[in-house]
Amino acid sequence: GVRGVVAVDGPAGTGKSTVTRRLATALGARYLDTGAMYRAATLAVLRAGVDPDDAGKVLAVVEATRMLVGTDPLGPTIELADPDPADLERTEDVAAEIRGPEVTLAVSPVSAVPAVRELIVAQQQQIIADVVAAGGRIVAEGRDIGTTVAPAADLKIYLTASAEARAQRRVDQDVRAGRTASVEAVMADVRRRDTYDSTRKTSPLRKAEDAIEVDTTELDIDGVVARLVELAEQAG
Ligand code: C5P
Repeated sequence: GVRGVVAVDGPAGTGKSTVTRRLATALGARYLDTGAMYRAATLAVLRAGVDPDDAGKVLAVVEATRMLVGTDPLGPTIELADPDPADLERTEDVAAEIRGPEVTLAVSPVSAVPAVRELIVAQQQQIIADVVAAGGRIVAEGRDIGTTVAPAADLKIYLTASAEARAQRRVDQDVRAGRTASVEAVMADVRRRDTYDSTRKTSPLRKAEDAIEVDTTELDIDGVVARLVELAEQAG
């Protein structure tokens, strides 16, 4: 396997982002949130006034979008940049906006476009390769890290939890971020995205054969982090 790469996949609401950041911090590793990249691409699509289901137009927007991704687990950043590569100064922090309901509603169709995935996966693989080439470690989280982005990762983890537990966690997360949400509405959204993400043709959400499944339903954040750190130590 590729030393230095830990892949963490699973559906929405397993606490994946929180535990993955904490795992990266504990390992002294970098952290890559691949979902944030699909969300930033989706924000660009919405801002361009393009229908998220219009694959051709979606691709054109994503091709013209430049995003900058910061991989510090204590403060990961995601910015949209001016498409002119000479103009590196003009970047916009979109970390908060990409978590809003408009983006969440539109992200699945955008991320299901095969050519969009190709572009974004290539950027993710470059980020990972740069860290590994510099002798570092990186923990990458998403839906297809173990299967597609980093199939040779030396440790693959697949996080699961019951749909009820996942919906409740999303609600807690929204409330902390100052947004109100009902468990029913969030559960419907979690199920909608699960179905969409697991049934799409290109890189559907699924557990890699060699991934270790960790069911987080009965565990708190500390418990999950401890389990993942233990797995990472065993993997070397
Ligand atoms: O992880 P997060 O919930 O922020 O991801 C948002 C959406 O981005 C997912 O529902 C999925 O449609 C897409 N995604 C993906 N592949 C990834 C990460 C996220 O298709 N590796």
